[in-house]
Amino acid sequence: MTNAAKSGTFKIGGILEVNRLGFGAMRITGPGIWGDPEDPAEAKRTLRRVPELGINFIDTADSYGPSVSEELIRETLHPYASVVIATKGGLVRSGPNIWIPFGRPDYLIQEAHLSARRLGVEQIALWQLHRIDSNIPRDDQFGAIKQLLDEGIIAHAGLSEVTVAEIKAAQKIFPVATVQNRYNLADRASESVLEYCEAQGIGFIPWFPLAAGDLARPGSVLDAIAKKHNAAPSQVALAWVLKRSPVMLPIPGTSKVAHLEENVAAVNITLSDEDFATLDQAGKKA
Ligand SMILES: NC(=O)c1ccc[n+]([C@@H]2O[C@H](COP(=O)([O-])OP(=O)(O)OC[C@H]3O[C@@H](n4cnc5c(N)ncnc54)[C@H](OP(=O)(O)O)[C@@H]3O)[C@@H](O)[C@H]2O)c1
Repeated sequence: MTNAAKSGTFKIGGILEVNRLGFGAMRITGPGIWGDPEDPAEAKRTLRRVPELGINFIDTADSYGPSVSEELIRETLHPYASVVIATKGGLVRSGPNIWIPFGRPDYLIQEAHLSARRLGVEQIALWQLHRIDSNIPRDDQFGAIKQLLDEGIIAHAGLSEVTVAEIKAAQKIFPVATVQNRYNLADRASESVLEYCEAQGIGFIPWFPLAAGDLARPGSVLDAIAKKHNAAPSQVALAWVLKRSPVMLPIPGTSKVAHLEENVAAVNITLSDEDFATLDQAGKKA
């Protein structure tokens, strides 16, 4: 039977163990990640299926909806049993597809409190700064995170869309447990960040992990390897991401049960070292 446990485990902050294949809960909202999902019943079925498939790490944010994703997670999965709910703050929304970084320390602290309330938890297991706001000194934003950790509002803290230099600056102020950057087989811009995370034991959460860009076209190397495994190119792209590093925690997102089941089935694909290397080279050129 397909079970996300087959992806192996990682300890966030060296303590909090999760199966490496997680779930991204951004897509269970409306178009433009705004408002309610088009099919709320299917979105709820998808969320309920997440733990049944062995996933025990869900990524969300206060800004998904806003609030809609966190509220649906609470409605369907509270009190969560062994499922870790990670959330984020630091982006404000004024409409569909509009995302505005806002890192005033008191705002970040308020948002973490509100996320805890919406999720129905006393302490947020992992809270991530969605974006560093370039209009506010970054150390002030990191200081707010340290305060949240010190006061026990959050257990672990992470960053999103950051450079190695930014991670190092943050590490002077609080322990960085995770980094969430865009990364997939065909988008390797964050390779040096991944390598730094691996060296530091920081969990690397690649978002948009299913994408393979042009590599997914019929007749490509990816297509041939996918056919060999009787799998979809997106499943092979995910299997490649999982094999890339032991600190990798992909969070493919969907609003549909069938897509969720297909994505989790990627854990059943074992890529040979040769196929991994072939895809690696093709992805670097893409
Ligand atoms: N930190 C950040 O700045 C940031 C930015 C973006 C996302 N994220 C996080 O990363 C997670 C994943 O990112 P993402 O949603 O952009 O990328 P993704 O998971 O790689 O792709 C999701 C898209 O692919 C579709 N999809 C999923 N499974 C499919 C399947 N088996 N077959 C066909 N289509 C499928 C989904 O639509 P359907 O709903 O129709 O399946 C959705 O449009 C998000 O949920 C969120 O938690 C973080």
